[in-house]
Amino acid sequence: MKLFRRKHAADLQAEAKNDTRLKRALGPVNLTALGIGAIIGAGIFVLTGQAAAKYAGPAIVLSFVLAGMACAFAGLCYAEFSALIPVSGSAYTYAYATLGEFVAWIIGWDLILEYLFAASTVAVGWSGYVVSFLKEFGVVIPAQFTSAPYDHHAPADAGWNMWRLFTEGWGSTGATLNVPAMLIVGFVTFLLVLGIKESATFNNIIVAIKMTVILTFIAVGFAFINRHNWHPFIPPSLGPGEFGWGGIVRGAGVIFFAYIGFDAVSTAAQEAKKPQRDMPIGMLASLAICTVLYIIVSLVLTGVVNYQSLNVPAPIAVAVDAFGEKMAWLRTLVKIGAIAGLSSVILVMLLGQPRIFYCMSKDGLLPQIFSTVHPKFQTPWLAQIFTGAVAMLVAGLFPIGLLGELVSIGTLLAFAIVCAGVLVLRLLHPEMHRPFRTPAVWVVAPLGIIFCGWLMCGLPRDTWARLIVWMVIGLVIYFAYGHRNSRLHHGRPGKPNDPSQP
Ligand code: ALA
Repeated sequence: MKLFRRKHAADLQAEAKNDTRLKRALGPVNLTALGIGAIIGAGIFVLTGQAAAKYAGPAIVLSFVLAGMACAFAGLCYAEFSALIPVSGSAYTYAYATLGEFVAWIIGWDLILEYLFAASTVAVGWSGYVVSFLKEFGVVIPAQFTSAPYDHHAPADAGWNMWRLFTEGWGSTGATLNVPAMLIVGFVTFLLVLGIKESATFNNIIVAIKMTVILTFIAVGFAFINRHNWHPFIPPSLGPGEFGWGGIVRGAGVIFFAYIGFDAVSTAAQEAKKPQRDMPIGMLASLAICTVLYIIVSLVLTGVVNYQSLNVPAPIAVAVDAFGEKMAWLRTLVKIGAIAGLSSVILVMLLGQPRIFYCMSKDGLLPQIFSTVHPKFQTPWLAQIFTGAVAMLVAGLFPIGLLGELVSIGTLLAFAIVCAGVLVLRLLHPEMHRPFRTPAVWVVAPLGIIFCGWLMCGLPRDTWARLIVWMVIGLVIYFAYGHRNSRLHHGRPGKPNDPSQP
Protein backbone atom coordinates (compact mmCIF):
# COMPACT_ATOMS: atom_id res chain seq x y z
CA MET A 1 0.00 0.00 0.00
CA LYS A 2 1.31 3.43 -0.99
CA LEU A 3 0.90 4.96 2.45
CA PHE A 4 3.39 2.50 3.85
CA ARG A 5 6.06 2.63 1.18
CA ARG A 6 9.47 2.67 2.73
CA LYS A 7 12.87 4.02 1.88
CA HIS A 8 15.44 1.23 1.98
CA ALA A 9 17.69 1.32 4.99
CA ALA A 10 20.52 0.09 2.75
CA ASP A 11 20.04 3.15 0.47
CA LEU A 12 20.19 5.44 3.48
CA GLN A 13 23.37 3.74 4.63
CA ALA A 14 24.89 4.25 1.19
CA GLU A 15 23.76 7.87 1.28
CA ALA A 16 25.58 8.40 4.56
CA LYS A 17 28.72 6.68 3.32
CA ASN A 18 28.94 8.58 0.04
CA ASP A 19 28.17 11.97 1.49
CA THR A 20 31.56 13.39 2.35
CA ARG A 21 30.78 17.12 2.26
CA LEU A 22 30.44 17.53 6.00
CA LYS A 23 33.62 17.34 8.01
CA ARG A 24 33.85 14.33 10.25
CA ALA A 25 35.37 16.04 13.25
CA LEU A 26 33.41 14.88 16.31
CA GLY A 27 34.62 12.16 18.64
CA PRO A 28 32.82 10.60 21.61
CA VAL A 29 33.68 13.43 24.03
CA ASN A 30 32.45 16.16 21.71
CA LEU A 31 29.30 14.21 20.94
CA THR A 32 28.58 13.70 24.62
CA ALA A 33 29.14 17.43 25.16
CA LEU A 34 26.78 18.14 22.27
CA GLY A 35 24.14 16.02 23.99
CA ILE A 36 24.64 17.77 27.33
CA GLY A 37 24.56 21.14 25.53
CA ALA A 38 21.15 20.29 24.09
CA ILE A 39 19.75 18.63 27.21
CA ILE A 40 20.44 20.97 30.13
CA GLY A 41 18.18 23.98 29.77
CA ALA A 42 14.76 25.27 30.73
CA GLY A 43 13.75 21.86 32.07
CA ILE A 44 16.09 21.98 35.05
CA PHE A 45 16.45 25.76 35.32
CA VAL A 46 12.72 26.58 35.14
CA LEU A 47 10.22 23.72 34.88
CA THR A 48 11.54 21.67 37.81
CA GLY A 49 10.42 24.35 40.24
CA GLN A 50 7.00 24.72 38.66
CA ALA A 51 6.42 20.97 38.48
CA ALA A 52 7.42 20.59 42.13
CA ALA A 53 5.17 23.47 43.20
CA LYS A 54 2.13 22.40 41.19
CA TYR A 55 2.27 18.63 40.85
CA ALA A 56 4.76 16.57 42.79
CA GLY A 57 6.28 18.45 45.74
CA PRO A 58 9.66 17.06 46.86
CA ALA A 59 8.70 13.81 45.11
CA ILE A 60 9.72 15.60 41.90
CA VAL A 61 12.88 13.55 42.49
CA LEU A 62 10.84 10.42 41.73
CA SER A 63 9.38 12.14 38.66
CA PHE A 64 12.96 12.58 37.43
CA VAL A 65 13.70 8.89 38.01
CA LEU A 66 10.54 7.89 36.12
CA ALA A 67 11.15 10.22 33.18
CA GLY A 68 14.82 9.14 33.15
CA MET A 69 13.76 5.49 32.80
CA ALA A 70 11.47 6.31 29.85
CA CYS A 71 14.36 8.16 28.22
CA ALA A 72 16.81 5.34 28.91
CA PHE A 73 14.58 2.83 27.10
CA ALA A 74 13.96 5.23 24.22
CA GLY A 75 17.65 6.22 24.18
CA LEU A 76 18.73 2.58 23.75
CA CYS A 77 16.38 2.29 20.75
CA TYR A 78 17.57 5.60 19.30
CA ALA A 79 21.14 4.36 19.71
CA GLU A 80 20.48 1.29 17.53
CA PHE A 81 18.97 3.44 14.78
CA SER A 82 21.61 6.14 14.95
CA ALA A 83 24.40 3.61 14.43
CA LEU A 84 22.46 1.75 11.73
CA ILE A 85 21.23 4.76 9.75
CA PRO A 86 23.68 7.55 10.58
CA VAL A 87 22.08 10.24 8.42
CA SER A 88 20.39 13.51 9.25
CA GLY A 89 16.65 13.67 9.70
CA SER A 90 16.68 11.78 12.98
CA ALA A 91 13.49 9.92 13.87
CA TYR A 92 11.79 11.05 10.65
CA THR A 93 14.37 9.19 8.57
CA TYR A 94 14.27 6.13 10.84
CA ALA A 95 10.50 5.97 10.46
CA TYR A 96 10.71 6.32 6.67
CA ALA A 97 13.00 3.29 6.60
CA THR A 98 10.87 1.15 8.87
CA LEU A 99 7.24 2.07 9.26
CA GLY A 100 6.71 3.79 5.92
CA GLU A 101 5.89 7.21 4.60
CA PHE A 102 2.67 7.83 6.47
CA VAL A 103 4.23 7.20 9.87
CA ALA A 104 7.33 9.15 8.78
CA TRP A 105 5.11 12.13 8.03
CA ILE A 106 3.37 11.79 11.38
CA ILE A 107 6.69 11.69 13.19
CA GLY A 108 8.13 14.54 11.10
CA TRP A 109 5.11 16.68 11.85
CA ASP A 110 5.27 15.64 15.48
CA LEU A 111 8.98 16.54 15.65
CA ILE A 112 7.99 20.16 14.99
CA LEU A 113 6.50 20.06 18.46
CA GLU A 114 9.82 18.83 19.79
CA TYR A 115 12.25 21.15 18.01
CA LEU A 116 10.39 24.31 17.02
CA PHE A 117 8.16 24.51 20.08
CA ALA A 118 11.02 23.56 22.41
CA ALA A 119 13.02 26.50 21.03
CA SER A 120 10.09 28.78 21.95
CA THR A 121 9.70 27.19 25.38
CA VAL A 122 13.37 27.59 26.21
CA ALA A 123 13.26 31.17 24.91
CA VAL A 124 10.52 31.94 27.44
CA GLY A 125 12.73 30.46 30.17
CA TRP A 126 15.67 32.51 28.88
CA SER A 127 13.54 35.64 29.09
CA GLY A 128 12.73 34.92 32.76
CA TYR A 129 16.42 34.64 33.67
CA VAL A 130 17.48 37.67 31.61
CA VAL A 131 14.80 39.85 33.19
CA SER A 132 15.85 38.79 36.66
CA PHE A 133 19.56 39.21 35.80
CA LEU A 134 19.05 42.73 34.46
CA LYS A 135 17.04 43.63 37.54
CA GLU A 136 20.12 42.98 39.68
CA PHE A 137 21.78 45.83 37.81
CA GLY A 138 18.79 48.14 38.14
CA VAL A 139 17.50 47.57 34.62
CA VAL A 140 13.79 46.90 34.89
CA ILE A 141 11.86 45.84 31.80
CA PRO A 142 8.13 46.48 32.34
CA ALA A 143 6.29 43.25 33.14
CA GLN A 144 3.92 44.00 30.31
CA PHE A 145 6.69 43.18 27.85
CA THR A 146 8.18 40.17 29.58
CA SER A 147 5.37 37.70 29.74
CA ALA A 148 2.75 36.03 27.63
CA PRO A 149 -0.52 37.82 26.90
CA TYR A 150 -2.47 34.55 27.14
CA ASP A 151 -2.82 31.85 29.70
CA HIS A 152 -5.07 28.83 29.85
CA HIS A 153 -7.04 27.08 32.58
CA ALA A 154 -8.86 24.06 31.26
CA PRO A 155 -12.60 24.19 32.01
CA ALA A 156 -13.15 21.81 34.91
CA ASP A 157 -16.37 20.36 33.50
CA ALA A 158 -15.09 19.73 29.96
CA GLY A 159 -14.33 16.04 30.59
CA TRP A 160 -12.79 14.61 27.40
CA ASN A 161 -14.57 17.08 25.12
CA MET A 162 -11.52 17.91 23.00
CA TRP A 163 -13.07 20.89 21.29
CA ARG A 164 -14.01 22.54 24.57
CA LEU A 165 -10.61 21.76 26.04
CA PHE A 166 -8.98 23.37 23.03
CA THR A 167 -11.11 26.45 22.65
CA GLU A 168 -12.33 27.35 26.14
CA GLY A 169 -10.46 28.51 29.21
CA TRP A 170 -8.22 31.10 27.53
CA GLY A 171 -7.64 34.25 29.51
CA SER A 172 -5.72 37.45 29.09
CA THR A 173 -2.85 38.15 31.50
CA GLY A 174 -2.80 41.87 30.78
CA ALA A 175 0.70 41.59 29.30
CA THR A 176 1.37 42.53 25.67
CA LEU A 177 4.15 40.23 24.47
CA ASN A 178 7.18 38.42 25.79
CA VAL A 179 9.65 40.62 23.94
CA PRO A 180 13.00 39.22 25.24
CA ALA A 181 11.87 35.69 24.28
CA MET A 182 11.11 36.87 20.76
CA LEU A 183 14.39 38.74 20.47
CA ILE A 184 16.57 35.76 21.38
CA VAL A 185 14.79 33.55 18.84
CA GLY A 186 15.21 36.23 16.20
CA PHE A 187 18.89 36.67 17.01
CA VAL A 188 19.71 32.95 16.95
CA THR A 189 17.79 32.56 13.69
CA PHE A 190 19.84 35.36 12.18
CA LEU A 191 23.08 33.64 13.21
CA LEU A 192 21.92 30.33 11.80
CA VAL A 193 20.94 31.86 8.47
CA LEU A 194 24.44 33.29 8.20
CA GLY A 195 25.76 29.79 8.66
CA ILE A 196 27.14 29.90 12.16
CA LYS A 197 27.13 26.21 12.82
CA GLU A 198 27.12 24.48 16.15
CA SER A 199 30.82 24.62 16.69
CA ALA A 200 32.10 21.95 18.97
CA THR A 201 34.43 24.30 20.78
CA PHE A 202 31.76 26.92 21.42
CA ASN A 203 29.44 24.21 22.64
CA ASN A 204 32.11 22.71 24.90
CA ILE A 205 32.64 26.09 26.57
CA ILE A 206 28.93 26.55 27.23
CA VAL A 207 28.68 23.01 28.56
CA ALA A 208 31.61 23.69 30.89
CA ILE A 209 29.86 26.84 32.19
CA LYS A 210 26.56 25.02 32.71
CA MET A 211 28.21 22.09 34.48
CA THR A 212 30.27 24.39 36.72
CA VAL A 213 27.16 26.30 37.75
CA ILE A 214 25.16 23.17 38.45
CA LEU A 215 27.96 21.43 40.34
CA THR A 216 28.60 24.58 42.41
CA PHE A 217 24.89 24.83 43.20
CA ILE A 218 24.90 21.22 44.35
CA ALA A 219 28.09 21.55 46.38
CA VAL A 220 26.99 24.73 48.18
CA GLY A 221 23.34 23.70 48.41
CA PHE A 222 24.03 20.53 50.39
CA ALA A 223 25.04 22.65 53.37
CA PHE A 224 21.71 24.53 53.31
CA ILE A 225 19.35 21.59 53.12
CA ASN A 226 16.63 21.68 55.73
CA ARG A 227 15.18 18.17 55.98
CA HIS A 228 11.82 19.57 57.08
CA ASN A 229 11.32 20.76 53.52
CA TRP A 230 11.20 17.11 52.41
CA HIS A 231 8.26 16.32 54.70
CA PRO A 232 5.88 15.18 53.47
CA PHE A 233 7.99 13.85 50.63
CA ILE A 234 4.86 12.96 48.67
CA PRO A 235 2.27 15.64 49.56
CA PRO A 236 -1.29 14.29 49.86
CA SER A 237 -3.30 14.29 46.65
CA LEU A 238 -5.51 17.32 45.97
CA GLY A 239 -7.11 15.88 42.83
CA PRO A 240 -6.09 14.02 39.68
CA GLY A 241 -2.47 14.82 38.87
CA GLU A 242 -2.08 17.22 41.78
CA PHE A 243 0.33 15.73 44.29
CA GLY A 244 0.12 12.16 45.55
CA TRP A 245 1.26 9.39 43.16
CA GLY A 246 -0.72 10.88 40.27
CA GLY A 247 1.22 14.10 40.75
CA ILE A 248 4.51 12.20 40.43
CA VAL A 249 3.44 10.81 37.04
CA ARG A 250 2.19 14.20 35.87
CA GLY A 251 5.37 15.81 37.16
CA ALA A 252 7.37 13.21 35.19
CA GLY A 253 5.44 14.10 32.03
CA VAL A 254 6.25 17.77 32.57
CA ILE A 255 9.92 17.51 33.53
CA PHE A 256 10.45 14.95 30.77
CA PHE A 257 11.11 18.16 28.89
CA ALA A 258 14.40 18.42 30.79
CA TYR A 259 15.71 15.26 29.08
CA ILE A 260 14.82 16.26 25.54
CA GLY A 261 17.85 16.86 23.40
CA PHE A 262 19.90 13.66 23.68
CA ASP A 263 18.30 12.65 20.39
CA ALA A 264 19.64 15.86 18.84
CA VAL A 265 23.04 14.10 18.88
CA SER A 266 21.68 12.00 16.02
CA THR A 267 21.42 15.09 13.83
CA ALA A 268 25.22 15.32 13.92
CA ALA A 269 25.58 11.79 12.55
CA GLN A 270 27.29 12.96 9.40
CA GLU A 271 29.81 15.00 11.33
CA ALA A 272 30.92 12.16 13.61
CA LYS A 273 34.29 10.51 13.06
CA LYS A 274 33.01 7.03 13.83
CA PRO A 275 29.24 7.42 13.92
CA GLN A 276 28.54 3.74 14.30
CA ARG A 277 30.51 3.56 17.51
CA ASP A 278 30.20 7.11 18.81
CA MET A 279 26.52 7.99 18.21
CA PRO A 280 25.33 5.50 20.86
CA ILE A 281 28.10 6.65 23.22
CA GLY A 282 27.21 10.35 22.77
CA MET A 283 23.51 9.79 23.34
CA LEU A 284 23.67 7.35 26.21
CA ALA A 285 26.54 9.04 28.08
CA SER A 286 24.92 12.49 27.92
CA LEU A 287 21.63 11.01 29.06
CA ALA A 288 23.26 9.17 31.97
CA ILE A 289 25.23 12.23 33.15
CA CYS A 290 22.16 14.49 33.00
CA THR A 291 19.96 11.97 34.80
CA VAL A 292 22.33 11.85 37.76
CA LEU A 293 22.67 15.65 37.84
CA TYR A 294 18.92 16.20 37.65
CA ILE A 295 18.14 13.86 40.48
CA ILE A 296 20.69 15.53 42.75
CA VAL A 297 19.66 19.10 41.76
CA SER A 298 15.99 18.39 42.44
CA LEU A 299 16.88 16.90 45.83
CA VAL A 300 18.90 19.98 46.77
CA LEU A 301 16.32 22.41 45.37
CA THR A 302 13.40 20.97 47.31
CA GLY A 303 15.60 20.54 50.37
CA VAL A 304 16.76 24.15 50.48
CA VAL A 305 13.37 25.85 50.01
CA ASN A 306 9.81 24.72 50.45
CA TYR A 307 8.43 23.40 47.15
CA GLN A 308 5.48 25.80 47.39
CA SER A 309 7.77 28.78 46.76
CA LEU A 310 9.16 27.36 43.51
CA ASN A 311 6.41 28.32 41.05
CA VAL A 312 8.52 31.17 39.62
CA PRO A 313 10.42 31.83 36.37
CA ALA A 314 13.84 31.33 38.01
CA PRO A 315 13.46 28.70 40.76
CA ILE A 316 17.16 27.87 41.12
CA ALA A 317 17.81 31.56 41.79
CA VAL A 318 15.13 31.44 44.51
CA ALA A 319 17.00 28.59 46.17
CA VAL A 320 20.27 30.50 45.93
CA ASP A 321 18.58 33.48 47.61
CA ALA A 322 18.01 31.20 50.57
CA PHE A 323 21.80 30.73 50.89
CA GLY A 324 21.97 34.31 52.19
CA GLU A 325 23.71 37.52 51.15
CA LYS A 326 27.19 36.00 51.43
CA MET A 327 26.32 33.83 48.50
CA ALA A 328 24.98 36.64 46.30
CA TRP A 329 27.83 35.93 43.81
CA LEU A 330 26.37 32.48 43.25
CA ARG A 331 23.02 34.00 42.36
CA THR A 332 24.68 35.98 39.58
CA LEU A 333 26.68 32.92 38.49
CA VAL A 334 23.52 30.80 38.31
CA LYS A 335 21.83 33.39 36.14
CA ILE A 336 24.80 33.69 33.81
CA GLY A 337 24.99 29.88 33.59
CA ALA A 338 21.28 29.62 32.88
CA ILE A 339 21.33 32.35 30.24
CA ALA A 340 24.34 30.81 28.45
CA GLY A 341 22.96 27.30 28.83
CA LEU A 342 19.50 28.14 27.56
CA SER A 343 21.00 29.97 24.57
CA SER A 344 22.80 26.82 23.43
CA VAL A 345 19.61 24.76 23.70
CA ILE A 346 17.74 27.31 21.57
CA LEU A 347 20.55 27.14 19.03
CA VAL A 348 20.52 23.34 18.77
CA MET A 349 16.73 23.20 18.51
CA LEU A 350 16.57 25.92 15.86
CA LEU A 351 19.40 24.20 13.98
CA GLY A 352 17.66 20.80 14.05
CA GLN A 353 14.21 21.86 12.85
CA PRO A 354 15.12 23.15 9.37
CA ARG A 355 17.22 20.01 8.80
CA ILE A 356 14.12 17.91 9.34
CA PHE A 357 12.07 20.22 7.10
CA TYR A 358 14.89 19.91 4.59
CA CYS A 359 14.70 16.10 4.54
CA MET A 360 10.90 16.17 4.30
CA SER A 361 11.05 18.64 1.45
CA LYS A 362 13.68 16.59 -0.40
CA ASP A 363 11.33 13.63 -0.13
CA GLY A 364 8.55 15.75 -1.64
CA LEU A 365 6.41 15.81 1.50
CA LEU A 366 6.86 19.57 1.92
CA PRO A 367 7.19 22.25 -0.78
CA GLN A 368 10.58 22.69 -2.40
CA ILE A 369 11.03 26.05 -0.74
CA PHE A 370 11.96 24.20 2.46
CA SER A 371 15.01 22.68 0.80
CA THR A 372 16.20 25.85 -0.88
CA VAL A 373 19.81 26.47 0.01
CA HIS A 374 21.26 29.97 0.15
CA PRO A 375 23.91 30.25 -2.59
CA LYS A 376 26.36 32.11 -0.40
CA PHE A 377 25.71 31.00 3.16
CA GLN A 378 24.93 27.38 2.19
CA THR A 379 22.16 27.14 4.74
CA PRO A 380 18.51 26.17 4.25
CA TRP A 381 17.74 29.81 4.84
CA LEU A 382 14.06 29.93 3.93
CA ALA A 383 13.25 26.97 6.17
CA GLN A 384 15.38 28.60 8.85
CA ILE A 385 13.56 31.93 8.61
CA PHE A 386 10.17 30.22 8.54
CA THR A 387 11.12 28.20 11.64
CA GLY A 388 12.40 31.31 13.40
CA ALA A 389 9.35 33.39 12.58
CA VAL A 390 6.91 30.81 13.90
CA ALA A 391 9.05 30.11 16.97
CA MET A 392 9.21 33.85 17.69
CA LEU A 393 5.47 34.20 17.53
CA VAL A 394 4.88 31.21 19.79
CA ALA A 395 7.52 32.41 22.28
CA GLY A 396 5.95 35.86 22.40
CA LEU A 397 2.40 34.70 22.96
CA PHE A 398 2.27 31.64 25.22
CA PRO A 399 3.36 30.77 28.76
CA ILE A 400 6.16 28.31 29.42
CA GLY A 401 4.03 25.71 31.25
CA LEU A 402 1.63 25.29 28.36
CA LEU A 403 4.44 25.10 25.81
CA GLY A 404 6.60 22.73 27.86
CA GLU A 405 3.75 20.24 28.26
CA LEU A 406 3.01 20.33 24.55
CA VAL A 407 6.68 19.70 23.73
CA SER A 408 6.76 16.83 26.23
CA ILE A 409 3.69 15.09 24.83
CA GLY A 410 4.92 15.49 21.25
CA THR A 411 8.37 14.14 22.03
CA LEU A 412 6.98 11.23 24.05
CA LEU A 413 4.94 10.24 21.01
CA ALA A 414 8.05 10.45 18.81
CA PHE A 415 10.04 8.31 21.26
CA ALA A 416 7.30 5.67 21.38
CA ILE A 417 7.27 5.49 17.58
CA VAL A 418 11.08 5.09 17.51
CA CYS A 419 10.83 2.20 19.99
CA ALA A 420 8.22 0.56 17.76
CA GLY A 421 10.38 1.21 14.70
CA VAL A 422 13.34 -0.69 16.15
CA LEU A 423 11.17 -3.76 16.62
CA VAL A 424 9.73 -3.49 13.12
CA LEU A 425 13.18 -3.28 11.54
CA ARG A 426 14.38 -6.27 13.57
CA LEU A 427 11.47 -8.24 12.09
CA LEU A 428 11.76 -6.94 8.54
CA HIS A 429 15.54 -6.94 8.22
CA PRO A 430 17.05 -9.19 10.86
CA GLU A 431 20.06 -9.71 8.59
CA MET A 432 21.27 -6.06 8.62
CA HIS A 433 24.53 -5.41 10.38
CA ARG A 434 23.74 -3.49 13.54
CA PRO A 435 26.86 -1.85 15.01
CA PHE A 436 24.89 -1.19 18.20
CA ARG A 437 22.14 -3.57 19.24
CA THR A 438 19.57 -2.45 21.79
CA PRO A 439 20.09 -4.95 24.62
CA ALA A 440 17.08 -7.20 25.36
CA VAL A 441 15.22 -5.35 22.62
CA TRP A 442 11.99 -7.34 23.04
CA VAL A 443 11.83 -6.09 26.62
CA VAL A 444 13.42 -2.64 26.31
CA ALA A 445 11.45 -1.38 23.28
CA PRO A 446 8.01 -2.43 24.60
CA LEU A 447 8.93 -0.92 27.98
CA GLY A 448 9.91 2.29 26.16
CA ILE A 449 6.49 2.37 24.49
CA ILE A 450 4.71 1.63 27.77
CA PHE A 451 6.67 4.23 29.80
CA CYS A 452 6.27 6.94 27.17
CA GLY A 453 2.55 6.14 26.88
CA TRP A 454 2.19 6.20 30.66
CA LEU A 455 3.84 9.62 30.94
CA MET A 456 1.62 10.90 28.13
CA CYS A 457 -1.41 9.69 30.08
CA GLY A 458 -0.20 11.70 33.08
CA LEU A 459 -0.34 14.95 31.11
CA PRO A 460 -3.42 17.19 31.34
CA ARG A 461 -6.36 16.72 28.99
CA ASP A 462 -5.98 20.15 27.42
CA THR A 463 -2.44 19.17 26.39
CA TRP A 464 -3.91 16.07 24.73
CA ALA A 465 -6.44 18.27 22.97
CA ARG A 466 -3.62 20.40 21.55
CA LEU A 467 -1.70 17.32 20.41
CA ILE A 468 -4.77 15.92 18.68
CA VAL A 469 -5.59 19.20 16.93
CA TRP A 470 -1.95 19.50 15.85
CA MET A 471 -1.93 15.98 14.42
CA VAL A 472 -5.24 16.53 12.61
CA ILE A 473 -3.80 19.64 10.94
CA GLY A 474 -0.80 17.51 9.97
CA LEU A 475 -3.01 14.83 8.41
CA VAL A 476 -4.89 17.42 6.38
CA ILE A 477 -1.61 18.82 5.03
CA TYR A 478 -0.31 15.33 4.25
CA PHE A 479 -3.34 14.27 2.25
CA ALA A 480 -3.68 17.65 0.56
CA TYR A 481 0.00 17.94 -0.36
CA GLY A 482 2.59 15.40 0.81
CA HIS A 483 0.85 12.24 -0.32
CA ARG A 484 0.46 13.57 -3.86
CA ASN A 485 3.89 15.06 -4.18
CA SER A 486 5.96 12.37 -2.48
CA ARG A 487 9.01 11.55 -4.57
CA LEU A 488 8.77 7.91 -3.53
CA HIS A 489 5.22 7.71 -4.91
CA HIS A 490 6.47 9.08 -8.18
CA GLY A 491 9.32 6.59 -8.20
CA ARG A 492 11.89 9.33 -7.59
CA PRO A 493 13.45 8.73 -4.17
CA GLY A 494 15.34 11.75 -2.79
CA LYS A 495 18.71 12.04 -4.46
CA PRO A 496 21.31 10.80 -2.00
CA ASN A 497 24.06 13.05 -3.26
CA ASP A 498 22.17 16.23 -3.79
CA PRO A 499 24.98 18.78 -3.95
CA SER A 500 22.76 21.52 -2.64
CA GLN A 501 22.56 19.89 0.77
CA PRO A 502 23.78 22.27 3.46
N1 ALA B 1 16.03 19.60 27.57
C1 ALA B 1 16.00 20.92 27.08
C2 ALA B 1 15.72 21.88 28.16
O1 ALA B 1 15.48 21.50 29.27
C3 ALA B 1 15.03 21.05 25.96
O2 ALA B 1 15.75 23.07 27.92
